[in-house]
Amino acid sequence: MSTPFDYQALLDETLREEKKYGERGQVASYIPELRKADPNMAGIALMTTRGIFTAGDTAVNFTLQSISKVLTLLLALEHRGVEAVFAKVGSEPTGDSFNSIVKLETSEQKPLNPMINAGAIAVCSLLPGQSVEERFGLIADLLEKILGRPVQIDESVYRSEKETGHRNRALAHFLKDIHALEGDVEEVLDLYFRQCSILVNCADLARIGMFLAAKGINEAGKPIVSANAVRLVSTFMVTCGMYNGSGEFAIKVGIPAKSGVAGGILGVVPGRYGVATYGPALDRKGNSVVGISMLRRLSQVLDLSIF
Ligand code: DON
Repeated sequence: MSTPFDYQALLDETLREEKKYGERGQVASYIPELRKADPNMAGIALMTTRGIFTAGDTAVNFTLQSISKVLTLLLALEHRGVEAVFAKVGSEPTGDSFNSIVKLETSEQKPLNPMINAGAIAVCSLLPGQSVEERFGLIADLLEKILGRPVQIDESVYRSEKETGHRNRALAHFLKDIHALEGDVEEVLDLYFRQCSILVNCADLARIGMFLAAKGINEAGKPIVSANAVRLVSTFMVTCGMYNGSGEFAIKVGIPAKSGVAGGILGVVPGRYGVATYGPALDRKGNSVVGISMLRRLSQVLDLSIF
């Protein structure tokens, strides 16, 4: 009988060798509360069929930020259907930064994709419910089914972004004007700021990755969302999940992934693993520097690229 692969040793080595690259990045500062993060933090988690393996700062809580866009897109596809979602948002990469306002005025009168802020805000407006609480309940409920525990938001990050999110507010009003946003602008923004402020740790992200790798089936073996919704979301993660760094990430790492400005990266290795990293020091495109370095090494050793 062959010895099982030593995932723990691989993660320990990955962290040891790549952690230093965090120095090349900077913590996000445009949301004042995020400035408080320690740029030297680094963690990596791998969820396999044999269980979860972790190294470094994997129990530290941070906010989901843009990684939440994956969850709202899944929910909008499930509740509203593919046609209704793509009536409000496109499916092309932008080549611009995540919060860019530049390409909003397209001939199609909708944001280019659901991973940039404009597209994610439009998707948020599609979630059904009578109130922000009810709509947020759908997101919290989905996460609870994936993680097996209730989730909370970081109230100070939520307030900080709500008070200073002028660019997102501008995007939302523009979306309303072109009929790409349903309902009340402030309520939709409130939902968007809440979803961005959900607290997770790196190990949680690896579990979300495994849920997507298993085509929407949770750890208890229960189907939670359709395989088609997971396929669509995973495809967007490849083409737009790392924003204007998606092409380079596809070459270096080659897996569906989604980053957030608090420093998390969620990765999916279809049919095999959920993988996640944490490192709040970001590159100029808003992606974790140490996260990308660690994922690159892991991808080479475990031959993870889907290409
Ligand atoms: O909308 C924002 O600016 C943030 N709440 C989320 C942005 C984000 O995470 C971009 N990711 N790298």
